[in-house]
Amino acid sequence: MPNPSALRWLWQERLQSRLPIDQSGVWRFRELLPILLHPEKAVTLREGNTPLYRLLQSGEELGVEQLYAKHQGMNPTGSFKDTGMTAALSRAREHGFQWVACASTGNTSASMAAYASRARMNSLVLLPEGKISWSKLSQALDYGSFICQLNTDFDGCVRVLTEVVRSAPVYLLNSVNPYRLEGQKTAALEIAEEFDWQLPDHVIVPGGNLANSSALGKGFLEMMHLGLSSKVPKISVVQAEGANPLYLSLLHQEGREIQPMQANTRASAIRIGNPASWRKAARVIQQTGGYCEQVTEAEIALAKAEIGQEGIGCEPASAVTLAGLKKFVRQGKIHRDESVVLLLTGHTLKDSEYIIEFHQGTLLSKEESAGVEREIAERRRATLSLEPSADAVLRVLEAAIQI
Ligand code: F0G
Repeated sequence: MPNPSALRWLWQERLQSRLPIDQSGVWRFRELLPILLHPEKAVTLREGNTPLYRLLQSGEELGVEQLYAKHQGMNPTGSFKDTGMTAALSRAREHGFQWVACASTGNTSASMAAYASRARMNSLVLLPEGKISWSKLSQALDYGSFICQLNTDFDGCVRVLTEVVRSAPVYLLNSVNPYRLEGQKTAALEIAEEFDWQLPDHVIVPGGNLANSSALGKGFLEMMHLGLSSKVPKISVVQAEGANPLYLSLLHQEGREIQPMQANTRASAIRIGNPASWRKAARVIQQTGGYCEQVTEAEIALAKAEIGQEGIGCEPASAVTLAGLKKFVRQGKIHRDESVVLLLTGHTLKDSEYIIEFHQGTLLSKEESAGVEREIAERRRATLSLEPSADAVLRVLEAAIQI
């Protein structure tokens, strides 16, 4: 293994290369991904190399000056899943598999479908019927997957798939797949690069099946062991109140056990009641000194609208990170002079129905928005239907300017 400075230099140099694997923000770091015999044959859509944005407005409102969003929704299929998919699917192809399969709340299926088709492999997707967004379902259709919608939730789909793979030559690409974690850990390396290897104090991640928090933890810890960085950020996980088994486990059982639950949240990507990687996530939180929080549906909706109005946008599951940060700051767990990176896991177009319903005022029930009606009203925008005349538009503009 070359020395840390040589590695940092090599990874930067590859950004100038025209080779597909060098242009991938995952395979650019291949010295830390010893999982393929022939990395030059990796199946890549040029994933990774996603932007780190400063969140100026939210930072100002919270008094956290150094607030950033690492936007993993800017990956080829619009979510962080692509960074793990390139790794695990390339591995499946190298081992001669023709079929790959996953159960998904939507993003994994979109990603797997795309990478499988690039590799000329077949993919089987099990989805909870009526519980994933149209955009994600349409991606899996567009990329050419075999799609089965099952009348159950995500956890039910996982159960069925576990049985299916026992009796069929199908490679399982759910997030328990270790190679997916290897790919996903590269987000930690990118964050380190962006901070010139002086790592931020906190990284906040949404928690669903709890693989991503584990992957990031692995990435940051490996970096420190290799002498690439001198500290590890505190990694915190935020869950939706209706899908919060890790939060409850850490609160009541110090993360020793978990009680599976019937999950329910409009942040459909993280509607998971029996997370597969909860032990790893609990360990990462405890090892790095991070925290776990839960946030309500109204807190998620408000945080999502705020991120949208920064000109950045994200899907509802990603917005839990900003909602969680607000709580951490209020509780004194994160200090205003510390640097914080929110991991935005999915693109805003992943769930347009949610956005439209929020702005139409039909997303949340009265009970859910109780106490924050004013904040919600301030964030909502209306679309106006007008007669097609310049006068009509000018009248609207005049009224807006006077406000
Ligand atoms: N954010 C988004 C946008 C997701 O799609 C997911 C998970 C998560 C956060 C949670 O990540 O599971 O590693 O804790 N989506 C999976 C799927 C379950 O099937 O697409 P996690």
